Amino acid sequence: MITIEKANPHHVEGIIRVCSESYWATYKETHSEAYIQRVVSEFYHYERVLSEVVHTSRDWGGYFVALDHERVVGAGGGGIISDHAGEIFVLYLDPNRRYEGIGTLLLNTITEQQKNFGASEQWVSVQKGNMKGIPFYEAKGFQLQYEKLGYGNVEGESYRSLRYWRKI
Ligand SMILES: CC(C)(COP(=O)(O)OP(=O)(O)OC[C@H]1O[C@@H](n2cnc3c(N)ncnc32)[C@H](O)[C@@H]1OP(=O)(O)O)[C@@H](O)C(=O)NCCC(=O)NCCS
Repeated sequence: MITIEKANPHHVEGIIRVCSESYWATYKETHSEAYIQRVVSEFYHYERVLSEVVHTSRDWGGYFVALDHERVVGAGGGGIISDHAGEIFVLYLDPNRRYEGIGTLLLNTITEQQKNFGASEQWVSVQKGNMKGIPFYEAKGFQLQYEKLGYGNVEGESYRSLRYWRKI
């Protein structure tokens, strides 16, 4: 059985494992190894994730983890970005555990938190071409709003991201 919990420091290594493996599995066909390596090492290292587990607020509601017998199989989190809007900042599953409804459980939990903070709409950025993420958000009622230059490009790169929105 899968349970969703607010992450604590015991989950940090599991969050790093799941997010790094999922990031590689998701982007290896569309992004260069150098790009993936850069993003994974910026976001998913011990000190940063521990700090993001410990320091939570309205702006960053902390990580939630999906646990299967204490093992982290998914992780996600978001925050409030303006008066009535929340955003999903991160949502990744163990690549072998997709299509079991775990992403839905995590998204629902983050959404409840954001509603409790007063949000009535929700945003998410998805990398253009991410066919492991876009159909999920579209199934959840998110609609494409606009395209912009992606995060983390360095000289010579021009990866783009898509901004999706829904009412909650
Ligand atoms: C996106 C992700 C978190 C979704 O989690 P999941 O547990 O696989 O999704 P669920 O099983 O809860 O599926 C929910 C719905 O989305 C649909 N869906 C999910 N991924 C899909 C895909 N690639 N293509 C088509 N439909 C998809 C499911 O059919 C289901 O539809 P339904 O509710 O109408 O039955 C997960 O697939 C993942 O980790 N993807 C790779 C990482 C990623 O892209 N994260 C988002 C970065 S912004």
